[in-house]
Amino acid sequence: MIFLNGQFMPIEKASISVLDRGFIFGDGVYEVIPVYSRRPFRLDKHLHRLQHSLDGIRLRNPYTSEQWSDLIGQVVDKNAGDDQSIYLHITRGVAKRDHPFPDVPPTVFMMSNPLLPPQPELLEKGVAAITASDNRWIRCDIKSISLLPNVLLRQIAVDAGAAETILIRDGFLTEGSASNIFVVKDQVLLAPPKSHLMLPGITYDVLLELVAENHVIHEVREISEDELFSAEEIMLTSSTREIMAVTRLNEQPVGTGSPGAIFRQLHQFYQQYKATHMRGGLTS
Ligand code: PDD
Repeated sequence: MIFLNGQFMPIEKASISVLDRGFIFGDGVYEVIPVYSRRPFRLDKHLHRLQHSLDGIRLRNPYTSEQWSDLIGQVVDKNAGDDQSIYLHITRGVAKRDHPFPDVPPTVFMMSNPLLPPQPELLEKGVAAITASDNRWIRCDIKSISLLPNVLLRQIAVDAGAAETILIRDGFLTEGSASNIFVVKDQVLLAPPKSHLMLPGITYDVLLELVAENHVIHEVREISEDELFSAEEIMLTSSTREIMAVTRLNEQPVGTGSPGAIFRQLHQFYQQYKATHMRGGLTS
């Protein structure tokens, strides 16, 4: 069951106009909210980021946080599976094709997909990644539905049999095509600082909180391309992939070529956190 413009319906019954500005211009924003044991995880943070994205494209938020919480809860209730991934999408609505903002209601769409944990084999072996030049716009902090650059960048990885494309802008690491990236250099975990050049990941925040709580030596600072290529470990985070080790970069092994000690430690912290917080009735 999906939600479209105030109504719940089976996805087969849902349709939107070809004049929707999401279709015509990619004029909209989105969120992906993981749900564990039927409870949306860090919903307040996702709604806060949604507001930031809406402000960034000058689109009024159609609902209050309470209304979002209620509607998202209904989407979760109407779909099977304890763990779900809620996709939420708002566009500037339906209007005659013309660039200026129209005075029409937005289109609001939500759907649920199963949220599957990363496959054990991928956790055991890690995944491959490819690097590419980050040729996206300079408002990557907005979770825009205009994902063509991300799609094209991701396909570079797919074509090379890799799981993610790691992006480099002006000699520095930004993020992955759909994930945030962490690096271990000289046994210190490095995270690129949040800026307009990357999406402020909710999972990125979780990882940095776990690292601080568990006294893992870390620094939030710019990471050069050279540091990325000589890293002992690389890992990626996202709401749908949790935390994964990148063990091959551009067809070369990263460190030993197996998930490193710091990844294993962080993965364990993440799993503990999942058990106690995400599944334990705590939602933040
Ligand atoms: N993407 N950076 C980019 C470009 C992303 O698209 C994502 C997530 C992230 C990680 O953010 P978070 O930890 O809040 O999921 C970073 C989602 C999952 C997607 O587009 O499907």
